[in-house]
Amino acid sequence: MRRNGLRAAPTGLKTPFSEATSGIFSGVSVPSGVRINDETGRSARQGGNKMMCNRNRFAAIAAAFIALVFGVPALGDGAAAVSGDAAHGAKVAYTCLGCHGIADYRNAAPNYHVPKIGGQHEAYLVSALAEYRAGARPHPTMKAQAGSMTAQEARDLAAYLATATPVASSGHATGALPAAATTCSACHGADGVGITADYPTLAGQHADYIEQALKAYRKGGRQNAIMNGMAAALTDADIHAIAAYYAGQTPSLWIPAATR
Ligand code: HEC
Ligand code: HEC
Repeated sequence: MRRNGLRAAPTGLKTPFSEATSGIFSGVSVPSGVRINDETGRSARQGGNKMMCNRNRFAAIAAAFIALVFGVPALGDGAAAVSGDAAHGAKVAYTCLGCHGIADYRNAAPNYHVPKIGGQHEAYLVSALAEYRAGARPHPTMKAQAGSMTAQEARDLAAYLATATPVASSGHATGALPAAATTCSACHGADGVGITADYPTLAGQHADYIEQALKAYRKGGRQNAIMNGMAAALTDADIHAIAAYYAGQTPSLWIPAATR
């Protein structure tokens, strides 16, 4: 296997995605403020003016808070309701650890670290897998991985990755929050620990992966209504400073080991 410039990884999890209509992936793009493919990000980019971007950013935050207040189900909630079997997840994670379990493992083109997924929020992991499967995130290898597991396996994997050593906020951040990250901390926390299960933890994540993700949101290849809006106004220098800041936070996301 040599997709996307990645080295061959052990294969497995070849079962067809049998629960597509009844499982988690049917329920993930529901919330009003968090809809994939929304116009928000695109119009912000096309408008190309700062006021517009800021309005979109505000609208995205407002929508997220409205979703919280009125209890609109957030991304992945449907999945989190049925908890995964972490012990089974540890077994099926074998394939994943061929990339995610190796320190310094990289995506070759473009070149950046495979993200750390240990200790990430469970609901976010499930929704991330759903987004690869749906194509909202355009990574061919991860699309294939996410598309070849059952909904239950996705939940089990997320439970295993999230619960062994979950990353919890220590209540204080390392270093000074870059000015461009002021808004970000409302959801991702000043110390990079997502304040709800739907907001990914960034603490200790590889800086080059964070940069890659933000540029993909800004360009629109990676689709998320909130994050397309958030990234639209960021400069390359902002992105660089933000990535370094979050990568330096502790406690950190970790790299699951094959022996765990
Ligand atoms: C061939 C290498 C490879 C394999 C095998 C692999 N991944 Fe990935 N994974 C990646 C890369 C590279 C990315 C970053 C893709 C991107 O930029 O969107 C990624 C991204 C992810 C993300 C998103 C992380 C985030 O912070 O949003 C999750 C979750 C994930 N993988 C879970 C898994 C699971 C579960 C498996 C096993 C079923 C798996 N991966 C197998 C390479 C791999
Ligand atoms: C209203 C809440 C909210 C705000 C504010 C916010 N984000 Fe996000 N962020 C999210 C959500 C939700 C996701 C998951 C989107 C997805 O699934 O692609 C995300 C994803 C990300 C990711 C990808 C993480 C990964 O593991 O792949 C990065 C990096 C990120 N945000 C950085 C930022 C930065 C930098 C800012 C400020 C400019 C910001 N965010 C503001 C909610 C928010």
